[in-house]
Amino acid sequence: MEEKEHPMSEKILIAVAWPYANGRVHLGHIAGAYLPPDIFARYQRLRGRDVLMVSGSDTHGTPITIRAEEEGITPRDVVNRYHPENIEAFRQLGLTFDLFTETDTENHWAVTQDMFLRLLENGYIYRDTMMSLYCPHCDRWLPDRYVEGTCPHCGAPGARGDQCDACQRTIDATQLIEPRCAFCGHTPQVRETEHFFLDLGKLNKPLLDWMRTDKEHWRSNVLNFTLNVLESGELRGRPITRDIKWGIPVPVEGYEDKRIYVWFDAVIGYLAATKEWAKITGHPEAWRDWWQDPNTRSYYFIGKDNIFFHTIIWPGMLIGYGGLNLPYDVPANEYLNVEGRKLSKSRRWFIETLDFLTRYDPDPLRYMLTINAPERNDVNFTWEEFLRRNNDELVATWGNLANRMLTFAYKNFDKQVPEPGELDAADEALLARVEDAFQKVGDLLEGCKFKAAITEVMAVAHAANRYLDEKAPWFQIKEDRARAATTVYVTLRAIDSLKTLFTPFLPFTCQRLHEYLGYEGNIIGRLYVDTLAEEHKTHVALRYDANELTGKWTPSQLPVGQALRKPKPLFKKLDENIVEEEIARMQRQTA
Ligand code: MF3
Ligand code: ZN
Repeated sequence: MEEKEHPMSEKILIAVAWPYANGRVHLGHIAGAYLPPDIFARYQRLRGRDVLMVSGSDTHGTPITIRAEEEGITPRDVVNRYHPENIEAFRQLGLTFDLFTETDTENHWAVTQDMFLRLLENGYIYRDTMMSLYCPHCDRWLPDRYVEGTCPHCGAPGARGDQCDACQRTIDATQLIEPRCAFCGHTPQVRETEHFFLDLGKLNKPLLDWMRTDKEHWRSNVLNFTLNVLESGELRGRPITRDIKWGIPVPVEGYEDKRIYVWFDAVIGYLAATKEWAKITGHPEAWRDWWQDPNTRSYYFIGKDNIFFHTIIWPGMLIGYGGLNLPYDVPANEYLNVEGRKLSKSRRWFIETLDFLTRYDPDPLRYMLTINAPERNDVNFTWEEFLRRNNDELVATWGNLANRMLTFAYKNFDKQVPEPGELDAADEALLARVEDAFQKVGDLLEGCKFKAAITEVMAVAHAANRYLDEKAPWFQIKEDRARAATTVYVTLRAIDSLKTLFTPFLPFTCQRLHEYLGYEGNIIGRLYVDTLAEEHKTHVALRYDANELTGKWTPSQLPVGQALRKPKPLFKKLDENIVEEEIARMQRQTA
């Protein structure tokens, strides 16, 4: 019988921001919200923890309808185009979502309407009238992104009716300076309309009590932003329905012409996707383990423009609903710039993930976006740095260490792991350094310090390289074959441990290395695209199956005599020309 190390293993919910299905995800999205949770999930699974990582496409609201109108297609057509493309990008990048679904599903609609009604019943949602913008020329309401103007907070032009990209603040559209209809450019009128409101004023005190307990592990920008808002006492009710046709119907009679606000339904996605996952895996009640067990920790991975929704609105909704876990941590990231310029969809200054992956492998990208992660401040992606890190760090340091030792052992030691003699101080020191890294890197990963974690693993690879250069088994073997065998054994064992330490970050090359070292099986499990059927709908989803996972976060016990497989280099050296080529490509793309 198979031995289980953690019969009652800890549960960790990894909630990942839902990308709008109105375009292809770019490297800013990957660095900010998608790669860090995958590193975290892979690490936690290697630790034997029970991980559930969920997300999906955000399919409602004006981000989708504006795109549909621009292209002359339906909102559903927009989703049908970009949802599968983003799934494909995530699959190619190896993002191990247990479930990546979407919000236009029967399950998500039902969970959202249930939450709406419960909050209404519990007195956290109320009805009121408000002033909203209406375009008499187009004869339609102009919620959120349908109106543009100058930001009332910072004065930046091009602010939208819901948010200003320049200063990050949320906007009441009627306060926009010189508002214009996004369709026809005419000046809209202010008219009265009736809506449902989330009573944030009532939630202020319970939210503050929650934020003042056990938050030492939060990133300071997230913590300070949230405390500032809650301590200002300025929270007021916010409308959570809209005069729009695309979205989830308001489950109250008399509101047939209105829809639930996209942000209200999107955050509910975390709970809805967990319920969907529970149903499709055949244990419909299993969602409770992730939301109702007080020992389960939930982590929300998002970009900084989403902080308000994840540390105030969503926790407020959870408090109002009752009986569901609040976030344990919200490790929000800052922005990724490219070649010194802010990413911009409208100016087409971005690098599309799928396009990038047609020319480069996923692990070098994962490496680059982690070692230069936007954790504490905005970072700058340059092609020059990508080239240098690929060639000097992945190829010349880590890849070269693995490749030259595997090739040497394969050739000179009968295609197997040689038996070592007695270890000297240098041998012991290297193995000790490698073993200590499991604790050190593990602690950094537990704390969501991904950049520091990968930097530490790379430092260990450097140490192994120096050890190998000093020992020089290619000279040792000419005088003393047994000494050379010891060096090869120690180095292979260090490489085997480094393989585990690198697995959360560089899963594709680590799996190959695992095979070259002579192991069978899959370190991390299986990722696949699936079609899920509901009563009246189907949708595609990305799914992950942990059953085949064989990896463990422990130092190598490399068996002497294990047969090696013929190795190939783990990474490709890139030509210096790519820097100019890629910059030129971006120049051509930008408007
Ligand atoms: N779609 C939003 C964005 O891209 C993020 C939504 S996160 C969610 O900014 F959880 F609320 F869905
Ligand atoms: Zn108009």
